[in-house]
Amino acid sequence: MGRVIAIASGKGGTGKTTITANLGIALAQMGKKVLLIDADVAMANLSLILGMQSSPITLHDVLLGEAQVQDSIYDGPHGVRFIPSGLSLDNYKRVDSERLTSIISQLTDQYDYILLDVAAGIEKNVLSALSSAQETLLVTMPTSPAIADALKTKIVAQRLGSKVIGVVINFVMNEKGEISKKDISDMLELPSYGSVPYDPEVRKSFMQEKIAPVIIRKPSSPASQEIAKIASRFTGIKMPQIEEAKKVGFLERLFSFFKRK
Ligand SMILES: Nc1ncnc2c1ncn2[C@@H]1O[C@H](COP(=O)(O)OP(=O)(O)OP(=O)(O)O)[C@@H](O)[C@H]1O
Ligand SMILES: [Mg+2]
Repeated sequence: MGRVIAIASGKGGTGKTTITANLGIALAQMGKKVLLIDADVAMANLSLILGMQSSPITLHDVLLGEAQVQDSIYDGPHGVRFIPSGLSLDNYKRVDSERLTSIISQLTDQYDYILLDVAAGIEKNVLSALSSAQETLLVTMPTSPAIADALKTKIVAQRLGSKVIGVVINFVMNEKGEISKKDISDMLELPSYGSVPYDPEVRKSFMQEKIAPVIIRKPSSPASQEIAKIASRFTGIKMPQIEEAKKVGFLERLFSFFKRK
């Protein structure tokens, strides 16, 4: 039985989709079977960040009972599998998100990790996503409004029977006066799973002609390395890329060159 984990935040724009995609790829790189589900049925973004636009059958079709879930699963980068959400507003209005739990239950024995990219807010679709996941991982920024929304989401998730396992702090700038990891952890009464720094490389993933999540495009970047550490926390496996990124460092190369002489 795989773990079903909702990635949620309450507040919009905290980095849920970014964390879902990159964490999923990191877990897959560690040899885990991973399925990502775009549970943001209104504002589907996960396909964009994965660089996959062509997916004729979506979660909308499955939620509408018009397609089988197996037909909505696509191959993503590094062996990650992926269920996109549809872009049609008409279908979005008609979907019955409460069917998500039974859809996911058909898949849990085929994957080690099923990650749900949850929408912002606490609308019905969010509640359905939270109640279909045994576990919830919160994503917040180190700002009071984001932490307040994370706390609200934690309470809602718990009421729906999802175990809130921890918090990822994203957009960390380490500026003077920024709310610390310890304070956030204390306020939410949750362990911190990682502090992902603000990293311009994350945004650049969208700017290139060939879109690719930062963990693929720039594994040595600070955000990629922190997300890899979060994946290690789940699997207990050290990310080989961190070693790789270290190895290719200029100074290390120079040093080993002289050592060989
Ligand atoms: N650590 C980071 N450093 C720099 N930019 C980031 C970081 N994390 C996310 N971003 C950027 O912030 C924006 C919002 O991220 P993302 O879409 O993942 O948030 P979200 O929580 O899924 O948003 P929504 O609530 O709209 O679904 C994106 O442009 C993304 O590239
Ligand atoms: Mg999103």
